Amino acid sequence: MRFQAHQFFILASVSLLLSCFYLDTAYGGRVRDGGWQAVDPKDPHIVEIGRYAVDEHNKQANTSLKFKSVVKGESQVVAGVNYRLIVAAVHVKNVHNYQAMVYERAWEGFRNLTSFLPLLA
Ligand SMILES: *[C@@H]1O[C@H](CO)[C@@H](O)[C@H](O)[C@H]1NC(C)=O
Ligand SMILES: *[C@@H]1O[C@H](CO)[C@@H](O)[C@H](O)[C@H]1NC(C)=O
Repeated sequence: MRFQAHQFFILASVSLLLSCFYLDTAYGGRVRDGGWQAVDPKDPHIVEIGRYAVDEHNKQANTSLKFKSVVKGESQVVAGVNYRLIVAAVHVKNVHNYQAMVYERAWEGFRNLTSFLPLLA
């Protein structure tokens, strides 16, 4: 069977549609709005990011906070994923909340703590 120009065009349109659909489902529609999307604070990956944020902050600021939990969080798909998490950590026996921002390119195993701020209760 010979490929006609219009057949190729239809094929290309269908694959474009499919990849749009794929991106939409893969990122839960996040690609379209480019905004922040709530994440499950109990998700093991989110807990790992929260723990990483506290450990990394301890290294950078020479503190000894103890990670307790992720209180809530959001993520944003960029050329990677930005996570904005509220983490609870123990500081000298008292639990405090901190806002941690972590940038991750999971496929490269790259993570960076971009900010870590105490939240005034
Ligand atoms: C880190 O903190 C500990 C305990 O407060 C202190 O003994 C140590 O000298 C500090 N290290 C640096 C690199 O500031
Ligand atoms: C990590 O984030 C900090 C704060 O945004 C930035 O200054 C630093 O360059 C980043 N490090 C890497 C390796 O991207």
